[in-house]
Amino acid sequence: MALDQILTFDPGDPEFLDDPYPELNRLREATRVFYDEGRERWFVTRHEDVRSCLRDKRLGRNFRHVLTPEEIGVPPLDPRWSAFWGTERWSLLWLEPPDHTRIRKLVAAAFTPRSVESLREPSAELARQLLDPLAEAGEMELLYDYAQPYSIAVICRMLGVPLDRHRDLLDWSHRMVKMYEFDVPLEAAEAANRAAAEFTEYVQELIRERRAKPCDDMVTGLVEARVDGERLSDDEIVSTVIVLLNAGHEATVNTLGNGLLAFARRPDQWRRVVSGDVRAATAIEEMIRFDPPLQLFERWVLADDVVVGDVPIPRGQKIAMLFGSANRDPRVFDRPDEFDVGRENAARHIGFGGGIHVCIGAPLARSELEASVEALCRLWPDFELVEEPRRTGAFVIWGLEGLRLARG
Ligand code: HEM
Repeated sequence: MALDQILTFDPGDPEFLDDPYPELNRLREATRVFYDEGRERWFVTRHEDVRSCLRDKRLGRNFRHVLTPEEIGVPPLDPRWSAFWGTERWSLLWLEPPDHTRIRKLVAAAFTPRSVESLREPSAELARQLLDPLAEAGEMELLYDYAQPYSIAVICRMLGVPLDRHRDLLDWSHRMVKMYEFDVPLEAAEAANRAAAEFTEYVQELIRERRAKPCDDMVTGLVEARVDGERLSDDEIVSTVIVLLNAGHEATVNTLGNGLLAFARRPDQWRRVVSGDVRAATAIEEMIRFDPPLQLFERWVLADDVVVGDVPIPRGQKIAMLFGSANRDPRVFDRPDEFDVGRENAARHIGFGGGIHVCIGAPLARSELEASVEALCRLWPDFELVEEPRRTGAFVIWGLEGLRLARG
C-alpha cells in the first residue's frame, strides 16, 4: 500500500466510524507518528509512545500559560462561544501547573480511596434497584434505562448535586462534549455554548445555596476550601463542578455500552463472567482496553527538542494520542483484536491516561463498572441484541446511540 494511502485517516468517514480498528491497526503498524496536514496535528499510534507522551512534562493540555496564540499561529478562542470557554477556563482538563496542581489537590482530597469505598455499597444497591424492574420487563435500552441514570446518580451523590434535573445535566453534558470533536459544525457549537450558559447558571445557584446553608458534600467543600489562605473563586468552582459532572458519567456510560456490545457479540465471554471464572474487576479492564470510551487526547508541545517516537516535533505543535490504537498494540497485548475477558495484562490499557492529568475518577469509575457488571450477571445472565446498535457519529467521545438488549 502506498504511504499516502496509509498516513492519512478521516475520523469523520462513516466507514471508519463503523469499525475504526482495522484502520487504526494499519496506521500503527505503518508508523509510530504521522503528521496530518489537514488537521495540523501529529498522531501518535503506539502504546509505548502514547504512554510516554502522557507523562512528558514538556507537553501540556494547554499552552496559554507559556505561549500566546500568535506565537504559535493558532486563532484566539472564538468569542461567540464565550460561555463554553468560561466553563473550560478553570477546568482541570484546561489547566497546567501551578493552577492545575492547586485545584487538583482539592478535588483529590474528596476522591480518597475511603470516600470512593463508602460509595460502593450504595452504588451496588442502586444498580440492583434500576436493573430489577428492567429484568422483569425482559428488555431494556441499556444506556437510557440504566447506564445514564445510574452513573449520573452516583456522581451527583458524590458532589451533593440534587437529582431532580438529571436529564438536564445529561443533555448539557452531551451538547458540551461535542466541542471536543474534530470539525465542530456551527449548530453544534451554538448548542454547546447555550448548554454551557445554562449549566453555569445552575451551578452558580447551587453555590449560592450551599454558601447560605452548608451541607456535608463536595460542593460545600469547594465553597469553603482554602488553599494557602485563599478561597476558590466562583468561576473556579463552576468549572470544577462541571468537569466532574461531565467527566463523571460520559466515559462510564460509554464503557458500559461498548463493553456490553462486545459481550453480546461474544456470549462465551459473558458466560465466563456469569459463571465466576473471571471476576468483574478483571472483565472491566478488558472492556476499557478493547473498545475505550475516549479514543483520543491531545497535547501541545511546550519546549524545544521534543522527540516523539523517532520524530522531532517543534514547539507550538499539537500531538493527538490515539488511545484505541495504543490499546490494540500487539507489542503489549497478545491477539489484541480478540475480546478476551480474562486477559491477564488488560489493565495495562491506556484508558485512564497517565501523568498529571490521569483520570481522577478512575477508582470511582472502576467501582461503578464492577457493581454494574456484577448486577447484570445476576439479573441478565443471558441476553441478546434486539437490533444492531448505531454509533453516535463522534470519534473522540466514543459510544453508541443506544443498546437494546433482551433477556435470553
Ligand atoms: C471508564 C470511565 C472513565 C474513563 C475511561 C476516563 C478517562 C479519563 C482520561 C483518559 C483522562 C485524562 C485525559 C488526559 O490526559 O488528557 C481523564 C481525566 C479526568 N477524569 Fe476520567 N475517565 C472515566 C471516568 C471518570 C469519572 C467517573 C470521573 C468522576 C469524577 C472522571 C473525572 C475526570 C477528571 C476530573 C479528569 C481531569 C483530571 C485532570 O486533568 O487532572 N473520570 N479521564
